[in-house]
Amino acid sequence: MRSAADQIRAAIADAGGAIPFETFMHFALYGDGGFYSAGGAAGRRGDFITSPEVGPLFGAVIARMLDAVWADLGRPGLFTVIEAGAGPGTLARTIRAAAPACLGAIDYVAVEVSGVQRERHPDWVTSTDAMPTAPVNGVILANELLDNLAFRLFVMDGGWREAYVAARPDGSFAEVLRPASDLEQLHLPGGAAHGARIPVQRRAAAWVQQQRALLRTGRLVIFDYAQPTTAGLAQRPWREWLRTYRGHERGDHYLREPGSQDITVDVAIDQVVAAAGEPASVRTQRQFLQRWGIDELVAEGQRVWAEHAARPTVAALAMRSRVREAEALCEPSGLGGFTVLEFDADATIFSKNAGPGHQ
Ligand SMILES: C[S@@+](CC[C@H](N)C(=O)[O-])C[C@H]1O[C@@H](n2cnc3c(N)ncnc32)[C@H](O)[C@@H]1O
Repeated sequence: MRSAADQIRAAIADAGGAIPFETFMHFALYGDGGFYSAGGAAGRRGDFITSPEVGPLFGAVIARMLDAVWADLGRPGLFTVIEAGAGPGTLARTIRAAAPACLGAIDYVAVEVSGVQRERHPDWVTSTDAMPTAPVNGVILANELLDNLAFRLFVMDGGWREAYVAARPDGSFAEVLRPASDLEQLHLPGGAAHGARIPVQRRAAAWVQQQRALLRTGRLVIFDYAQPTTAGLAQRPWREWLRTYRGHERGDHYLREPGSQDITVDVAIDQVVAAAGEPASVRTQRQFLQRWGIDELVAEGQRVWAEHAARPTVAALAMRSRVREAEALCEPSGLGGFTVLEFDADATIFSKNAGPGHQ
């Protein structure tokens, strides 16, 4: 397999000298030798810890939410759960371990582009590399997917200009700025300072719009780090919202050693809403988990542990760990501060063409 850098250099040559940052990011993560193609992953032995990887508690709370949606739908015999960007399948495993009442009805579809990670999916899920296109009756889940979808990058330099990537003679990569022919349609925020940057997340916005359109009954639930507006992102130092990770540490500049590090961005909620319409609710992860009973699960864990503390069992130790897991999952400056966007099947789809400046 070619390295990500070789594939990117070839694409730059084919394009006559530069490719959009969006194309660079897509190859750096999902192309030949890309970060995820080559096995980059969530998990303790991976590159970063996500909520399902904290421990089984997150899946246990999601299992409660699934039961509630299933009950709302009249407890159908077939209840589809699609998990997008499923990584190695940890959320699926923990949902099953929680044994929700709907388990027997669940048809679990784990969608993951990385073949290395699909190989780790449990064999009771339908493991696939692409979102199903049939109408959905059930729940579509995505944890930390949207932040990993490639986006267009714009830089304020006397006007918004699009970031492209060129190759230097020594093989490393450099940023070049070019005018964008569709600038008018993008409605980018005004008043940004020289050097300000913004992401235009058309893939993420289109993904939400498409899934929402497929939902016949049930709910689309998206967990991610997010910011309310694109204009707000323009005012913040870009290194705060355009980040790289490798081996549980922050990585280098995003143009360095493509394929060796994850590239990720805060999701601009206004862009998602402009494409997919208003969500039924926007909560922090902490609020979401409390709504679906994390405090009760922790109290149950403490009770079981107290009963078994004198002669601990493995199950009792797992119950005790719920306290620590809940702290990590609800920490306001960490996972607890993530945004949870929920879309119901029956809400109206709004304007499909409005850009990030539209609220
Ligand atoms: C940050 S990881 C999150 C993994 C998992 N959801 C978790 O919370 O641990 C993002 C995952 O989304 C996958 N991914 C990215 N784009 C995708 C797409 N279009 N369809 C399916 N999976 C995708 C990546 O390969 C990666 O495994």
